Amino acid sequence: MAKKFYITTAIDYANGSPHLGHAYEKVLTDVLARYRRLQGDEVHFVTGLDEHGQKVQMSARKAGLEPQAICDQVAVEFQGLCQRLEISNDDYIRTTEARHKKVVQSVLQDLYDRGEIYKAEYAGFYSQRQEQFVTEKEKVDGEWPEIYGEVEEVIETNYFFKLAQHQDWLVDTIENNEAFIYPRFRSADVLQFLKEPLNDLCISRPRERLQWGIELPFDSEYVTYVWFDALVNYITAAGYGTDAYADHWPADFHVIGKDILVPPHAVYWPIMLHALGLELPRHFLVHGWWLSSGAKMSKSTGAVVNPLDLIEQHGADAFRYFVTREMNVGQDSEFSLERFTARYNSDLANDLGNLLSRLLNMGGRYTEGRVPAATIDEAPEQELKQLWESTAKELIPLYDGFQYHRALETIFSFLSGINRYAETRAPWKLAKSEDPADRAALETSLACMAEALRLSVVLLTPVMPTISEKVRALIGDEALTGLDGQLDWGDRLEGKTLGEKTILFPRPERSAG
Ligand code: ME8
Ligand code: MG
Repeated sequence: MAKKFYITTAIDYANGSPHLGHAYEKVLTDVLARYRRLQGDEVHFVTGLDEHGQKVQMSARKAGLEPQAICDQVAVEFQGLCQRLEISNDDYIRTTEARHKKVVQSVLQDLYDRGEIYKAEYAGFYSQRQEQFVTEKEKVDGEWPEIYGEVEEVIETNYFFKLAQHQDWLVDTIENNEAFIYPRFRSADVLQFLKEPLNDLCISRPRERLQWGIELPFDSEYVTYVWFDALVNYITAAGYGTDAYADHWPADFHVIGKDILVPPHAVYWPIMLHALGLELPRHFLVHGWWLSSGAKMSKSTGAVVNPLDLIEQHGADAFRYFVTREMNVGQDSEFSLERFTARYNSDLANDLGNLLSRLLNMGGRYTEGRVPAATIDEAPEQELKQLWESTAKELIPLYDGFQYHRALETIFSFLSGINRYAETRAPWKLAKSEDPADRAALETSLACMAEALRLSVVLLTPVMPTISEKVRALIGDEALTGLDGQLDWGDRLEGKTLGEKTILFPRPERSAG
């Protein structure tokens, strides 16, 4: 079997409910997955839940529950979110699954056997919140920065992974692979971090401090560090140790947020793989943050938008459209409800929704509910087709370059072009005339509107899969299975039956009072 296009999201921490940041990352990854499927790739898309570690153990204690019980509840929430968002993942991995424990333990044993892991006594400082050891270097003005929470002094014997000896190799690898990290400017952050000598990574936690983790196969007094466990999910889900592995690994894209690039994904993970003699992932796609009044939305600040509320009110596709349209992948973006409403009304309800209902309405009244033939080709038609030609030329490069916000902008400016064309031809006026030339112009204008609408939804499909299918069905077209020939202006809709007039994006009901 040919290797699949293997794409992953980060796996979400099981210590809280999903928020906008989690929803966004899934939508972004899903857009890429659906686009690749349209391009003909066999895609393997994995997302999941990161269930071990101190934070989950603490949340469980607070709630008076077993950690597994908390994880099971949270898993239902996150999987429900995926479903509601129409995420097309092929697998969902949970780090408490047996398949994962097995891989983590085999990887640990393998590294131990290769001499990459050693035991040593360590005296230093430990941050509960970050679940990591910190050094005096991290202090700012003699104080531990806020992000570390409470820092305690510890003397402990632990197991260490020999990161430092792979530092030069990693620097070379990143310097010689410009496409490894997108956007490229993030490689500079990684190289900056690698200017300082790396410390070896403490990969164990003594049981008396942390019970909720995967046991070290060579010392049952310890469980492994949560990041070491979490990163391995990517090869577990690829089928490491089974025949499926060769069909999946290396990952084509790990999609992650900027906060977890350095050091876990860009330093620990490549070195772990290298030390195991495994191939590196091909690319990281690193997105920015959703901000709320300038601050990162996160569980710890409480400034979170519940994506389920928005989906409930406006539908998954409107939500997917909004986050994809507003976020320049790699940058941060400010979330506001006003902006959401503005986009919903002007782009979706107006430019797209009204155009479709106008077409269906006129088709029902003037052409017996069918798409007529385009029999003339005058200035307004030529202009519209030219506009499409320049639009189509831009779309694939924009999609290939993760410029989804601009792809959507381009499609919606084409939709405005279709609306202008309709105003110019004014078929509702032509319908009043007995002149055969006016009749030809009327039929042509409906045919052109339908064809132009068909073309506009082709590359809306990865972002708005349900709405795009609905539009296609309402103008008499079949479901989209690939891009072949789909972006060429033609007459495939001629004679097809139009659907009943429909409101694609209803205005939200106003609450009484
Ligand atoms: O970091 N805007 O889990 P997590 C955009 N378990 N993205 C955001 C965001 C925001 N406001 N807040 C979080 C973890 N994210 C680890 C990952 S992977 C082997 C282990 C993104 O639940 C964040 O950047 O804190 C990350 O990519 C994902 O949500 C999960 O974050
Ligand atoms: Mg986080």
